[in-house]
Formats: sequence, C-alpha cells, structure tokens
Amino acid sequence: MVLEAADQAAVRALWLKLGSNVGVYTTEALERTFLAFPSTKTYFLHLDLSPGSAQVRAHGQKVADALTLAVDHLDDLPGALSALRELHAHKLRVDPVKFKLLVHCLLVTLARHYPGDFSPSLQASLDKFLSHVISALVPNCH
Ligand code: HEM
Repeated sequence: MVLEAADQAAVRALWLKLGSNVGVYTTEALERTFLAFPSTKTYFLHLDLSPGSAQVRAHGQKVADALTLAVDHLDDLPGALSALRELHAHKLRVDPVKFKLLVHCLLVTLARHYPGDFSPSLQASLDKFLSHVISALVPNCH
C-alpha cells in the first residue's frame, strides 16, 4: 500500500515547511498524549514525564527523526521502519491502539501551529501518511 502522489506531495511540502522544528511538534504531541491519554504513560515510567522534561524532548526528537525518515521513504515505509516495528512490537509490546492516540495528538499540534495550512485536504493527506506509518510499525497490519 503506497500513498497516492498528491498525498505524498502534500506531506513533503509540509515537512519542508516544518524544517528543523519537527522535534518541537513531536515533543508537544507526546506531552499532549501523556496528558489526554494517561494510559500511554505506562510505557515511559523510566523517563521524567513532567512538563518541559528534557527526556521527553529527547524522545520527541527521536520520534521526529523517524517520521522524517518515513517522509524520505514514502514508497517503502515497512522497509524503512522495520527496526522500529521490531522494537515496538516485540521488545516494548506497545498496544497498537496507542499509536492512534499519538497520531491524533500530532495532528492537533500541527493544526494549532499551522492553522493557515491545515486545510481539510492537508489533514486528509497527513492522516493517510500517519496511518501508513502506523501500519508499518504494527506487525501484520500492512
Ligand atoms: C522508542 C518512534 C509510537 C513507546 C522509540 C524510538 C523511536 C520511536 C524512533 C527510539 C528508538 C531507539 O532508541 O532506537 C515512534 C514512532 C511512533 C511511536 C514514529 C508513532 C508514530 C509509540 C507509541 C508508544 C511508544 C504509541 C507507546 C504509547 C515507545 C517507548 C520507547 C520508544 C516506550 C523506548 C523509550 C526509551 O526507553 O527511551 N519510538 N514511536 N512509541 N517508543 Fe515509540
């Protein structure tokens, strides 16, 4: 399953606009996820999850780098994300449902920071992109 050309173009254009700030938004998305959906915190009990935590920021940057890698490999997300799929499924045993919560919070974050860009069509393209990312991260889902 590959993202359609128009969706790919919309996601690439947004990523260019985000530039080096992707980590800022993934960090905000993580903070929102922990607050709005506290059950997600159980996977991160070994980290300092207080507001403004440097550990959450560092983790946000890792998630950002993974999403940027995904944007650079839109034609082969399962291949690009295979090591992360192993990690989340077999080592961390993350409940697949939780991915949707983080994705929801990332969309809210981007809508808040880029209200002028966040048209229904950009939302749809981003939602498809992030659904593909989830499919690539969850075994037997693609
Ligand atoms: C670690 C990406 C969703 C829990 C990581 C790492 C990356 C990553 C890049 C670091 C891997 C490494 O250090 O080698 C992503 C992406 C996600 C996602 C792109 C979805 C878009 C989730 C979700 C959860 C989760 C939904 C649980 C609610 C964890 C945990 C770690 C981790 C517990 C290890 C943290 C640590 O000990 O430092 N993730 N992740 N991830 N992820 Fe995810």
